[in-house]
Amino acid sequence: MATTDANLATHVETLRREIERHDRLYHVLDSPEIPDTGYDRLIRELRQIEGEHPELVTPESPTQRVGAQPADGFQQVTHRLPMLSLGNAFNDDELLAWHARVSNILERDDFEMMCELKYDGLAVALTYERGNLVRGATRGNGSVGEDVTSNLRTIKSIPMRLNPDLAPELIEVRGEVYFPRSKFVAFNIQREAEGLPVYANPRNTAAGSLRQLDPRMTAERPLDIFVYSIGASVGLPDIKSQSEGLDYLDSLGFRSNANNFLAKSISQAANYYRSWIENVESLDYACDGVVIKVNRLDYQNHLGNVGREPRWAIAYKFPAMQEETVLEDIKFNVGRTGRINPYAILKPVLIGGATIERATLHNEDYIVEKDLRVGDRIVVERAGEVIPQVVKALPKYRDGEPAKFKMIEECPSCENKLVRREGEAASFCVNSACPAQLVRLIEHFVSKGAMDIEGLGVKQGEALIDQGFIKDVGDIYLLKNHRENILEMERMAEKSVTNLIAAIEKSKEQPFIRVLVSLGIDLVGTEVATLLARNKGTLDALKSADADELSAIPGIGPKIAHSVVDFFADESNVAVVEKLKDAGLQMEQTIDESANLEQTLEGRRFVVTGRLRNFSRSDIESRIKELGGAVSGSVSKRTDFLVVGQDAGSKLVDAHNLGIRVWSEKKFQMMAG
Ligand code: IVH
Repeated sequence: MATTDANLATHVETLRREIERHDRLYHVLDSPEIPDTGYDRLIRELRQIEGEHPELVTPESPTQRVGAQPADGFQQVTHRLPMLSLGNAFNDDELLAWHARVSNILERDDFEMMCELKYDGLAVALTYERGNLVRGATRGNGSVGEDVTSNLRTIKSIPMRLNPDLAPELIEVRGEVYFPRSKFVAFNIQREAEGLPVYANPRNTAAGSLRQLDPRMTAERPLDIFVYSIGASVGLPDIKSQSEGLDYLDSLGFRSNANNFLAKSISQAANYYRSWIENVESLDYACDGVVIKVNRLDYQNHLGNVGREPRWAIAYKFPAMQEETVLEDIKFNVGRTGRINPYAILKPVLIGGATIERATLHNEDYIVEKDLRVGDRIVVERAGEVIPQVVKALPKYRDGEPAKFKMIEECPSCENKLVRREGEAASFCVNSACPAQLVRLIEHFVSKGAMDIEGLGVKQGEALIDQGFIKDVGDIYLLKNHRENILEMERMAEKSVTNLIAAIEKSKEQPFIRVLVSLGIDLVGTEVATLLARNKGTLDALKSADADELSAIPGIGPKIAHSVVDFFADESNVAVVEKLKDAGLQMEQTIDESANLEQTLEGRRFVVTGRLRNFSRSDIESRIKELGGAVSGSVSKRTDFLVVGQDAGSKLVDAHNLGIRVWSEKKFQMMAG
């Protein structure tokens, strides 16, 4: 029926406008009016109608942001007007020289300048015809770029339709796509966990994300954009200046930057620059300077270009956060779980006021992919709170042919053969008697969720290892035999030694699950230990299980299964377990233990961060407390677990740096039942 169809089409249009309005409120203006659930309801309704009436689907519909099929490659696009670059200034003199040249040509010095941040991302051009997004392209060489329309459509702050009351016949909008810094570290952690190469910085990540052949991959990355200028156009209103142009872009539905500032003099512009040197790290996007633009368009036209650079604008660059230095050595750390962490020893170099002597190298693949060789001249970058990174090697400076990097095969501490599990980028030392791991392992062994032995801190642990009283965690139970010798050690008073030995004896009563946890098998925490104990019942049964049997247990994936099998395949581990058994630790699951799951979070300290799907903040906090855990607001060395929701920020970084276990919300649910 024609009227129903017409009504439906009108309804769909109303729905789309409503969704577009909320998209803008959320992604452009940062001030949502409705909760996510309300928004989801609108999208769901639209999807449903479009599903039943495919004839009503338009390419600009909010449901079509992610939908395009993977491409084989990218088409080339010739820009209607070239995308220019910018001349640089590196100090006040160069800035003043630019201003003097401009003043000279304009024959006046009372002109205003628009001051903007110089975003360090990827320049793109978005073309709209009659208000609809028809093409998005990368800058490329300035004349010819690549058509990445499907990928740009996935960025929610890019409108697919412009404000219909103001949209011109044609407009090409230029801006910079970036990857938010707060999401960058978490993104890399995720990639590393999946065995994928990590990105060096947010800029490369933005570039890599825009060049994904499958738009669904791009959609999973939290890209964003700031727009900064208008290229080709037909039917624009009378815009007289850069500031009016930016206001117009805002009114069309774009996101310009709230930190733009109109300077009345060059000294005001210089102050703007100086204030951002101090504050740039507080921003969630990388900037490498400020751009100063003569504001009036008639002045801009009069000034024109020199080659590919406009005379009317200049980029005043921040002091470099990248520097060249020498890669003096590649060394390896052993983590608590035996994870081998390669890191770079650098010829000390000053970057943005801090001396950098080390940089993370993540894992074997990272080093091989960049072909880093000891002795190489390299580029190092420091960005915000992110750990210093090696950007690339500069092989042209190589003297002869330095040896290619070869991953170590033996643990730098115990010389046991390292294991690199399939699909993982990291190598592990799986020897639980490894000295480098031992300190950290003891720390873990005595912790609250494991054997809960008070009085055996890191200091005491190190001293006891040093004196040869502890060679593996099994020796903890033999300390009582060395009582007299221990009393002679520093800071080991009669009373504390007596208490320590009593605590050690008492820990023998800890249930089997805790014993399993205390072994420090990679990926085996309380929740996994609970599953293993319930299904296998005894340590001997667990030891003789193969990977297939273990992965058949619900909740146990192949990674965990292999980790357990690898652990028991190592004879030194088996010897330690035997020692613990001889000492009288619980090696079997008792009945009431499985009934008493409420103990699971006992004594554990939690921090919760990010947006959760199924819990409110107070829900999850009371659940943790119900199960015997504690909740605190910030991540510290004493935190046991960080529970993360969406958009987790710096706490995730802190947790990663401190080696604290991170739980997804799903994992928490598994644990909390
Ligand atoms: S204006 C002729 N404004 O810098 C004007 N560019 O070196 C050129 N950029 O390719 C563009 N922030 O990717 C302009 N606020 C800003 C900018 C900016 C970053 C980038 C842009 C361009 C490059 C030029």
